Amino acid sequence: MSSQATYNYKVVRQFAIMTVVWGIVGMLVGVIVAAQLVWPQLNVVEWLSYGRLRPLHTNAVIFAFGGCALFATSYYAVQRTCHTTLFAPALAAFTFWGWQLIIVLAAVTLPLGFTSGKEYAELEWPIDVLITVVWVAYAIVFFGTVAKRKVTHIYVANWFFGGFILTVALLHLVNSAEVPVTLWKSYSAYAGVQDAMVQWWYGHNAVGFFLTAGFLGMMYYYVPKQAERPVYSYRLSVVHFWALVFTYMWAGPHHLHFTALPDWTQSLGMVFSLILLSPSWGGMINGIMTLSGAWHKLRTDPILKFMITALSFYGMSTFEGPMMSVKTVNALSHYTDWTVGHVHSGALGWVAMISIGSIYYLLPRLFGQKEMYSVKLITAHFWIATIGVVLYIASMWISGVMQGLMWRATNADGTLTYAFVEAVKASYPFWTIRVLGGVMFLSGMFIMFYNMIKTIAGKQPYNAPVVAPIGAAA
Ligand code: HEM
Ligand code: HEM
Repeated sequence: MSSQATYNYKVVRQFAIMTVVWGIVGMLVGVIVAAQLVWPQLNVVEWLSYGRLRPLHTNAVIFAFGGCALFATSYYAVQRTCHTTLFAPALAAFTFWGWQLIIVLAAVTLPLGFTSGKEYAELEWPIDVLITVVWVAYAIVFFGTVAKRKVTHIYVANWFFGGFILTVALLHLVNSAEVPVTLWKSYSAYAGVQDAMVQWWYGHNAVGFFLTAGFLGMMYYYVPKQAERPVYSYRLSVVHFWALVFTYMWAGPHHLHFTALPDWTQSLGMVFSLILLSPSWGGMINGIMTLSGAWHKLRTDPILKFMITALSFYGMSTFEGPMMSVKTVNALSHYTDWTVGHVHSGALGWVAMISIGSIYYLLPRLFGQKEMYSVKLITAHFWIATIGVVLYIASMWISGVMQGLMWRATNADGTLTYAFVEAVKASYPFWTIRVLGGVMFLSGMFIMFYNMIKTIAGKQPYNAPVVAPIGAAA
């Protein structure tokens, strides 16, 4: 490769822009479904009803918003840390267009009611095949770039991104094994309790690898970059990686407590979930302590605020998760809004905030600017988003515990104290607060969109930077 080779930023730019766009779409659908719970008359036609839009929301935020953020940040970080350009650039471009096609197909088929019925794996078999093809292309580009690296060391962020890519491939292939009957209908290859077991092995590891390991890769590259400090403990980051990937795999049965699944598997899931607290917190501490000697930057730098707040929410949700996996706690929390609160402290607090921080880091660099068009608007975004998350999760905690207690309350003669509908009625005020929290978080995304457009519009004549020579900073 000539010394004048430049980094491939085109595909990074495309994914970065679409992260913000799909973030807005997915969260808008989230606000709509939240509003439909408060005002059921908003369920006007069947293809815009709660049952159809809810999976659209989860697919859009996880795979479209989160997915684009992961593609953008991994393609950037792997080039910089390997001191080389992307392997197979045409294949990298294919991953962009292929992934967008998958998202559009999901946005059409889910409202039409085509679903395999497996949570977070609802898309029907033709789309599953396309996902496999795009994912294999992603793996070839990523690992190909690692293979042609100009430095001997493989930086830890790439371990997390690589672990995420490999595991998601495995999860998708195993869980989506299905027998097609028509173009838009298939049946799972598994039956009964085995199907449930495979589904939640997938579901939990989708959390562990799609929503966690990939974003930890982001954390290990972008937090040190933004803080301009080395990772607090590199040794801890390696222990963190192996402990996390080993432990997550076993925790899935905590989604199936008190079901027909053999009791010992439920207990195993619970024990591994409790163990999971320590690698999770090891990682969080490693991220936050990276700021050692640079704490003062938190006062003025809103991008760092996003990242460190994300890590705090990561710590909170990975404390809450192990607690919820204890059978006696789960007996109260399961099926209630407590789970939804836990999900969003991870999804909004951790996943969305670390992505937003990393994309703010990337945008000026991708478009040849010194910084974002307006730092004040990033600060405004930070506060409106943080208040939004807190309103969302606090209201869900209260309504969740309330629902659990109301459902289990019995009178002296053994009859139920409350009819189910009374718990629904009591939940309304909290669902209304959630709509408000959601609207705030979504407004923040609009602010980001405006800031992004202005940053791109101010673009100077610009070429992507020349690949850094060996020994230079990545
Ligand atoms: C404006 C922001 C958001 C709002 C208003 C919102 C709203 C909602 C609502 C109303 C539900 C259905 C809850 C229920 O069934 O009772 C839901 C579910 C879900 N959302 Fe969001 N959401 C937002 C952002 C996100 C983001 C960014 C992610 C992921 C990165 C996410 C992931 C999920 C998941 C995984 C579920 C399913 C939870 C479960 O089955 O327990 N959401 N969301
Ligand atoms: C140590 C880490 C964690 C553990 C042990 C854990 C544990 C749990 C438990 C016990 C449940 C409730 C299962 C049920 O009653 O149905 C749950 C649900 C969930 N958690 Fe976590 N959690 C962890 C971290 C996270 C993080 C960081 C995220 C998001 C980024 C997350 C996303 C979810 C989702 C999406 C669900 C809902 C699944 C569904 O029913 O649709 N979790 N988790």
